[in-house]
Amino acid sequence: MRKYIFLSCIFCFFYTVVLRAQTYDSFRPGEVWLDTQGVPINAHGGGILYVDSVYYWFGEYKTGGPLGNTAQVGVSCYSSKDLYHWKNEGIALRVEEDSTSEIVRGAVIERPKVIYNTKTRKYVMWFHLELKGKGYEAARTGVAVSDHVTGPYTYLCSYRPNAKKYPQNFQKSWKKEQLGLDSLRWWSPEWYQAVEEGMLVRRDFIKGQMSRDMTLFVDDDGKAYHIHASEDNLTLHISELTSDYTAFTGRYVRLFPAGHNEAPTICKYQGKYYMITSGCTGWAPNQARSFSADHIFGPWTSLGDPCEGDAKRTTFDSQGTFLLSVAGKPETFIFMADRWNPKNPVDGRYVWLPVYFENGRIVLRWHNVWEY
Ligand code: GAL
Repeated sequence: MRKYIFLSCIFCFFYTVVLRAQTYDSFRPGEVWLDTQGVPINAHGGGILYVDSVYYWFGEYKTGGPLGNTAQVGVSCYSSKDLYHWKNEGIALRVEEDSTSEIVRGAVIERPKVIYNTKTRKYVMWFHLELKGKGYEAARTGVAVSDHVTGPYTYLCSYRPNAKKYPQNFQKSWKKEQLGLDSLRWWSPEWYQAVEEGMLVRRDFIKGQMSRDMTLFVDDDGKAYHIHASEDNLTLHISELTSDYTAFTGRYVRLFPAGHNEAPTICKYQGKYYMITSGCTGWAPNQARSFSADHIFGPWTSLGDPCEGDAKRTTFDSQGTFLLSVAGKPETFIFMADRWNPKNPVDGRYVWLPVYFENGRIVLRWHNVWEY
């Protein structure tokens, strides 16, 4: 009997580690992507941090069924040396069981991103946080820290950013009380003007600005920025983080008022900043947008849809989550996107595409199979 158990264990080990282990020598956007144990990678809406020759991919751990888009487990972490093979490093930030915790199981934890602070030597994770049972109304961003890149991360707190601060690019005349929200018909010319002139910034002035879809960016001078969909998802905000990366300094700018941008992704190429965003259609894909700027606080110029050959105008049936700079290859960037599956969230797929810079534009093209 003992011999039989021993042989079965050997077989199980051989099956999981050897037979199911998958080797890759290319990216295959939209196909099931297995980790080094042969299990589909579960790191949605994610981002990547490069540390000591290793890439760490953080993302939303999704489950199947109706609760699958809420945080039932937490934020997962995978590691890789070549970007093709990913080892599961476990759960970096775990949901809590205490019902008074903001990150209790069942809350919404989306689009986690991790950066490293060289002064404090801490890894700092930020994510979009919605409180359990409150839909998407909280519009907060949460922060957690760890001494180790793979975690465990300790949850610190959440913010409505920049309370009682006006944006840097806010005109003086807009600071005084003007028309209220209820007096205007949505999408009317008067409404557009009122949004542009900061109607929603003033509404949220005291409690802080909304923060939903988000990403992080660390500039060459070590300053970090939190870029998030604010003002009812109508306007992006770029907010400077404090020197320890765990709070907001209160310096921020607004981008494209009423432009309805979310899913922000950003990179810096040859001294210029590029951003790719999406429109706002929930889990359904839509047409991407792109922008460039000489300074992170703008002014930003609109460059239109970055996708070429995207006949359905759906960003190749995906929504961006991160622009990855490939280590040691300053010209090479990867657009990381999600092909969501709201009916079975755990089966959402990853769409990674090469990024081209052409004539001042950032361009994406579909490839069934590609290598970097
Ligand atoms: C998307 C957003 C996702 C998630 C979803 C919820 O637009 O990019 O991160 O928040 O809406 O419907």
